[in-house]
Amino acid sequence: MRKVIIAGNWKMNKTASEGRALVEALKPLVAEVGPECAEIVVCPPFTTLSAVVEAARGSNIKVGAQNLHWAESGAFTGEISAAMLREAGVEYVILGHSERRQYFGETDATVNARLKAALKAGFKVMVCIGETLEEREGNRTEEVLARQLDGGLADLDAVTVSGLVLAYEPVWAIGTGKTATPEMAEATHRFIRSHLAARFGKEAAEQVRIQYGGSMKPENAGELVAQPDIDGGLIGGAALKADSFATLIKNAIAGSRKK
Ligand code: PGA
Repeated sequence: MRKVIIAGNWKMNKTASEGRALVEALKPLVAEVGPECAEIVVCPPFTTLSAVVEAARGSNIKVGAQNLHWAESGAFTGEISAAMLREAGVEYVILGHSERRQYFGETDATVNARLKAALKAGFKVMVCIGETLEEREGNRTEEVLARQLDGGLADLDAVTVSGLVLAYEPVWAIGTGKTATPEMAEATHRFIRSHLAARFGKEAAEQVRIQYGGSMKPENAGELVAQPDIDGGLIGGAALKADSFATLIKNAIAGSRKK
């Protein structure tokens, strides 16, 4: 059984004080979610990380960053290193989000470089992949996902891949209110797993956790996570309020029990 992992991607939202308040409000709402049942992660902006790490200390809420640079240090204005995130108490990192790819020139090669640096530093990584509406309508979804997987995970071995979390986020579903239907999402997750099996072996492919992301809400989380190959969610908008994120987490866990 793959453990459910629900992560909130706060994107460019929440100052340090707002982030602390959100975690303080979330803690009692998810206090009874045991570590055996689901992993809960929140991913605030860099300047909010320390406040959130402090607020989450001793609770079942883990903290992730939204990016990490491949170099240890140096002339990379605006970037952040593994050592900086470690010292801030961060355990997880999101890499290759479609907004990074779309607006900031992220490529499969840079995702791969960031991923290697993150793994070397011991972070748990959520690697995002997903097709645009144009690519889906052009019947190129599988080709695009295969390219993102092959490029993003280049040079990794099967054991490393088995410990990864992937986030399948169809770009057309992010922040749009349009969710992939559970059947559509499941079919794509199944394709991702079969592609991984062909490249890294069946065992690694069965162990990789694949989150769905893109307008996941309390109302649809249960149905999505009830699908056999959907192991959790990466949530934007619905993770910005404690009550909606907590309800989403509970509904996702209830959904996972129907598998
Ligand atoms: P959304 O964002 O839940 O607001 O659609 C998801 C994401 O981009 O990770």
